[in-house]
Amino acid sequence: MKILAIETSCDETSVAVVEDGRRVLSNQIYSQIDIHKLYGGVVPEIASRNHLEKISQIVDSGLAEASLTFDDIDAIAVTYGPGLVGALLVGVNYAKTLAYALKKPLIAVHHIVGHIFSALTEYPELKPPFICLVASGGHTQLVVVEDYHMLKVIGKTRDDAVGEAYDKVARTLDLPYPGGPQIDRLAKKGDGSAIHFKRTYLEKDGYDFSFSGIKSGVLNYINQQRQKDLPINAADVAASFQEAVVDVLVDKSVMALKNYTMNTLVLAGGVAANSRLRDRLMAAAQTEGFNYYAPSLKLCTDNAAMIGCAAYYTGDATKPVDLALNAVPSLKL
Ligand code: KG4
Ligand code: ZN
Repeated sequence: MKILAIETSCDETSVAVVEDGRRVLSNQIYSQIDIHKLYGGVVPEIASRNHLEKISQIVDSGLAEASLTFDDIDAIAVTYGPGLVGALLVGVNYAKTLAYALKKPLIAVHHIVGHIFSALTEYPELKPPFICLVASGGHTQLVVVEDYHMLKVIGKTRDDAVGEAYDKVARTLDLPYPGGPQIDRLAKKGDGSAIHFKRTYLEKDGYDFSFSGIKSGVLNYINQQRQKDLPINAADVAASFQEAVVDVLVDKSVMALKNYTMNTLVLAGGVAANSRLRDRLMAAAQTEGFNYYAPSLKLCTDNAAMIGCAAYYTGDATKPVDLALNAVPSLKL
């Protein structure tokens, strides 16, 4: 079954063709980052306009990369939430139109479910049950994936998402948007133990996260140094902030694996591209003896291949096209 998948939830216009949920025949990603960089973050109106301008072209490229035509496609899949409403609507309307005109089934996909299953396209042996740490710009969650249709959120952030915290700290250090990759790079030149930022664990046995305290700790530190006319070593700040964040993410993931007696951890979302988080989870997997999977960097940030994969495992291509499908910006898992 070949699914043509469309993803436009934020600032990437992406189209992929995925066969049987696992084989990525194409994955075209047009990123608007260079446009939004000028404003220090994603401007929703500009994002929708750019999706609209690019979508037809990216659909054509997605088919061309897979050397296929619309006739070869069995179903259309699209992200319908969560995300920016105007951005989501471009993909949803395009997908509905395609499905109607081509008389193909339409599968609506939850963006985070896409992230959760992104690693499946690269590891043939990977299948539920597993625990997924979702770390992105809008979400930070620990999810128990019992089966493809049985996903249970056991913990989530009560304030900032981890990617959001990275982006805000980066802005304070005058680094361009998106800040996550910039902090990752800068931290390699710094000392993660140079400054102690308080880790927030909330309840001892709970899986919820809070990153606003760590973020404020960094902002306070920078302000104090400036007030006292003391130097700020940006690399040390980046490394120390990152160490604090990664400590919490790793500790809570390992605790979830133990308490739910699971032996597979999957990392997902834009922050899954973070080198320190990947290394620390790999090290934890070795010492604690669990299986650990992380998607390649291209599949960590938003892409349509993950949507095509999730559509195959969670959708129902036998149902008639639901032309009433709408974008749901704050869709829950
Ligand atoms: O999943 P994603 O592409 O979009 C959302 O669904 O939110 O995640 C984007 C987030 C941004 O906050 C970005 O700064 C962060 O992922 N990010 C990183 C890295 N690469 C992207 N954060 C830390 N380290 C990275 N290498
Ligand atoms: Zn995402």
